[in-house]
Amino acid sequence: MADSNQVKKYPLGLRLVHWVSALTIIFLLVVGIYMAELDPDAANKYDFYPIHQSLGILAMVLITARIFFRKKGPIPTPATGLKPWELMLSKWVHRLLYLCMVMMPLSGYLMTSTYAYSDGIDMFGLFTVPDITSKSALWTGIFHQVHSLTSWLLVFVLAAHILGVIKHKLFDGKDSDVLSRMI
Ligand code: HEM
Ligand code: HEM
Repeated sequence: MADSNQVKKYPLGLRLVHWVSALTIIFLLVVGIYMAELDPDAANKYDFYPIHQSLGILAMVLITARIFFRKKGPIPTPATGLKPWELMLSKWVHRLLYLCMVMMPLSGYLMTSTYAYSDGIDMFGLFTVPDITSKSALWTGIFHQVHSLTSWLLVFVLAAHILGVIKHKLFDGKDSDVLSRMI
């Protein structure tokens, strides 16, 4: 991971992919929670599944691109105004965000792939992403649990991430303004 004192901002590719993946993931969280909460007998319950699944696969591609850009760098050194505990906390929040970003699409894909009635994911009528596992109700249940639990971890960590950015923007000095590094 390349760090550099010369750069004050994240590179354009990483900034773009951060915001596009952030919007996609927030949309997936909202749609996912909404559709899972709907009554199993509700007429529109399964209207949302295909769009959630195909956008989820798209998110997996975006997140892979993001990890590639992150490794390529250059990455700005941390904002100079952050206190040691703020640095440590943001590092852990970012690690957990990356963990959730990998776990969510992977568990979703494997949940679908192991599901008895799934025959691949139709990507907006363009092509089909095939199932890659054998069928197993046990594993569908396990991946469902992982998907559901990780989604709540993500909501919690994301709230901390957003509150941190707002705190540094509104209440701390200019040296702590991390938002300008990502826009
Ligand atoms: C970043 C990517 C994703 C996010 C943030 C996300 C988020 C969510 C959330 C919050 C739920 C509701 C969980 C619950 O039951 O409490 C959900 C459900 C679901 N997700 Fe995802 N998801 C993602 C990717 C995927 C992918 C790639 C697939 C499949 C290809 C998928 C398939 C499903 C299915 C089938 C359900 C419904 C489970 C049920 O019936 O309860 N998701 N998702
Ligand atoms: C699902 C949504 C989001 C995810 C998964 C996410 C994830 C991340 C991750 C992993 C980083 C660390 C970048 C790195 O060094 O590799 C980061 C940085 C950043 N994010 Fe987000 N983010 C999301 C939404 C947001 C939102 C809504 C905001 C605005 C309030 C935001 C503002 C920022 C800023 C300003 C940075 C740069 C922090 C720094 O300079 O240290 N993010 N984000």
